Amino acid sequence: MSNGLLKGKKGIIFGALDEKSLAWKVAERAVEEGATITLTNAPVAMRFGKIKELGEKLNAEVIPADATNMEDLENLFDKSMEALGGKVDFVLHSIGMSLNVRKKREYTNLKYEWMQKTLDISALSFHRVLQVAYQKDAINDWGSVLALSYIAAQRTFPQYNEMAESKALLESIARSFGYHYGDAKKVRVNTISQSPTKTTAGGGVKGFDTFFNYADKMSPLGNASADDCANYCITLFSDFTRYVTMQNLFHDGGFSSMGMNAAVLEGMEE
Ligand SMILES: NC(=O)c1ccc[n+]([C@@H]2O[C@H](COP(=O)([O-])OP(=O)(O)OC[C@H]3O[C@@H](n4cnc5c(N)ncnc54)[C@H](O)[C@@H]3O)[C@@H](O)[C@H]2O)c1
Repeated sequence: MSNGLLKGKKGIIFGALDEKSLAWKVAERAVEEGATITLTNAPVAMRFGKIKELGEKLNAEVIPADATNMEDLENLFDKSMEALGGKVDFVLHSIGMSLNVRKKREYTNLKYEWMQKTLDISALSFHRVLQVAYQKDAINDWGSVLALSYIAAQRTFPQYNEMAESKALLESIARSFGYHYGDAKKVRVNTISQSPTKTTAGGGVKGFDTFFNYADKMSPLGNASADDCANYCITLFSDFTRYVTMQNLFHDGGFSSMGMNAAVLEGMEE
């Protein structure tokens, strides 16, 4: 169903790997709502992901870019503006990767070279994207930039490991850059803190399925799905949220406000 919320708008979407990816759903919904987009992912994801399939389906140019590489990002913005015929109106940063999680290092035994790489890929890349866009003046006034986050930025979820620090940094960058971009160009910058979702990155976290079920039980509305996350992103790219900026917005069925509930307590009695 389309409401034409993004009619005439242009955007860049990072991070669609396969049909489970949050970015995949956002890309599909954005085009459905009338946007034209370019898609991007790390060069390595071109080989084992399905992004090219998505590009064909959505008539979107696929431009490889390692989000930790400034030249790649500069090329991405230049090529995107060329392909889309001008500046863009929205950008989605949907990138996360932790080497220590992937290699099963405990939080109390991290390898710092890996942690630096994790922070670079999952958080500093957001600053890089914003800085390249800002310096190239590549986003129209009243544009919208979003990144996807998780509540481990505020609360302790031990299995989330060093990704907690990545998300805290990511959210801080949204506030800091949101000031500069808002002041200079009226561009808004926000993060969405999404429920656990069954994707490649999500599934990489130890004990993910049990935790997914716990969050689902704890949230009065249940876990927010990837499709619903995409719908929320569309509203934030649309002109109906023009004064929302520098926020971390929970999209989690109410989980972030919960302490305890009957469904979770059930079976805990001695
Ligand atoms: N799945 C969840 O439970 C969940 C919950 C909250 C937030 N998030 C966040 O949503 C975002 C998207 O993750 P997802 O769950 O859709 O998983 P995903 O694995 O489909 O997406 C992660 C993407 O990051 C890309 N990426 C990794 N390194 C990169 C690099 N150097 N340059 C460019 N791209 C790179 C991957 O290729 C992949 O497309 C991440 O920021 C993740 O932390 C996920």
